[in-house]
Amino acid sequence: MKNKSVEASASVSRRDFIKTSAAGAAAILAGKSVIFAAGAKRKLKIALIGCGGRGNGALDNCMEAATNIDGLELELVATADWFKQKAESTGGRFKLPPSKCFGGGNAYKQLLETNADVVLIATSPNFRPVHFEAAVKAGKHVFMEKPVAVDPPGIRKIIEAGELAKKNGLGVVAGTQRRHQANYQRIQYAVERGAIGKIVGGCVWWCGGALWYQTKKADESDADYMVRNWVSFTEMSGDHIVEQHVHNLDVANWYIGHPPDNALGFGGRARRKTGNQFDFFSVDYDYGDGVHIHSMCRQVNGTDGDVREFFAGTEGQTMGGGGLKGKDIKAPDYPDRNAYVQEHVDLLESILKNEPLNEARNVAESTLTAIMGRISTYTGKLVRWKDLTENTNSPWYNLTLTPAALDFESPGVVAPPDDIVAIPGKD
Ligand SMILES: NC(=O)c1ccc[n+]([C@@H]2O[C@H](COP(=O)([O-])OP(=O)(O)OC[C@H]3O[C@@H](n4cnc5c(N)ncnc54)[C@H](O)[C@@H]3O)[C@@H](O)[C@H]2O)c1
Repeated sequence: MKNKSVEASASVSRRDFIKTSAAGAAAILAGKSVIFAAGAKRKLKIALIGCGGRGNGALDNCMEAATNIDGLELELVATADWFKQKAESTGGRFKLPPSKCFGGGNAYKQLLETNADVVLIATSPNFRPVHFEAAVKAGKHVFMEKPVAVDPPGIRKIIEAGELAKKNGLGVVAGTQRRHQANYQRIQYAVERGAIGKIVGGCVWWCGGALWYQTKKADESDADYMVRNWVSFTEMSGDHIVEQHVHNLDVANWYIGHPPDNALGFGGRARRKTGNQFDFFSVDYDYGDGVHIHSMCRQVNGTDGDVREFFAGTEGQTMGGGGLKGKDIKAPDYPDRNAYVQEHVDLLESILKNEPLNEARNVAESTLTAIMGRISTYTGKLVRWKDLTENTNSPWYNLTLTPAALDFESPGVVAPPDDIVAIPGKD
């Protein structure tokens, strides 16, 4: 097993560095992080799995992050996508030869054989557990987009691989954003120190319009269709409570300090054209000790939207990222960059300082919170956290959505029929 720890021999404390280096002081004045001794350079090699909208965005965010760390240079060494031309198109932006741009369901394995230090993963969520585990076993540091699985066994794989990453000194950061966003960090800091007393309830929302969808082409395989139209299939995305609303549920878990004990939800499908997802969910999350969070998410055009979090405490209240009414508790000066960039700054700095961040468990638990709400909504049953994490006799402990990630590594994937959806009380 390779340990990708970066040599720390040249790293110096910020104070010592400023004392001894005018260049260091200039870098700090320019708003850059200073980690190495004067004039020292470090290069990290990066690679990207999943060259779609967010993958390209994450790559650019990562490159921008490096410009904020004095002496750091990044080099893109490989790309992988289900569609080789997408891998080549992204690689081409960085003058990568086509031989380093891999295509197909096994492309991630070729990418992981390269000498990349850091791998960015931005495929559809169903592939995350398999790709993340393989990346960790290959000794790579990882940035992975949220959510990180679509079913409970996938979550358990993420947690296990996250523990292995910890053991092997690998950094893991997830694209949940808000944990790297200064206004959220400041409020969470204050809430954790009692600024609103004890949280007793709240509401989290991601309500908006419909996302894009794709229809099946006449000559297209089911696998290609599902990969292109992944935001319409629960097997690929986890449904939008998982794919999108995970951001807000992550804030609830973070502010409250732990995931919920159980979920009871309802929802339905009204307008969608393809796939098998619901259009709306309303879930009561019971965090124990009388604490309830109401979660609402909807993707229906022409309806009122809202994306935020609200928490009521025994001594005040707050929105997720601001508007706190309670005790005035001063938080540290968190960097106030675009959170999409700050995620990468935090990952890269942690790697370079040999103090790797590891967010695998947090993002796994937030994703599982959303999955618990979805299972409850689809079935109409109360679902307990233990049913997904401990109780092996539960009907949901081994619930595996199919076609599953490994099915896409060989021909023969059969797509679920469009418009056949879960019926609460029957499934
Ligand atoms: N943090 C955020 O704000 C944010 C925003 C958008 C998307 N996302 C997340 O990013 C991920 C990707 O979303 P997107 O909008 O970029 O979707 P997308 O469809 O634009 O891109 C996904 C890419 O992955 C490729 N792909 C699919 N399966 C693959 C496989 N097995 N191997 C290699 N490549 C594969 C697809 O061909 C496609 O190019 C999702 O998990 C989504 O939830 C996060």
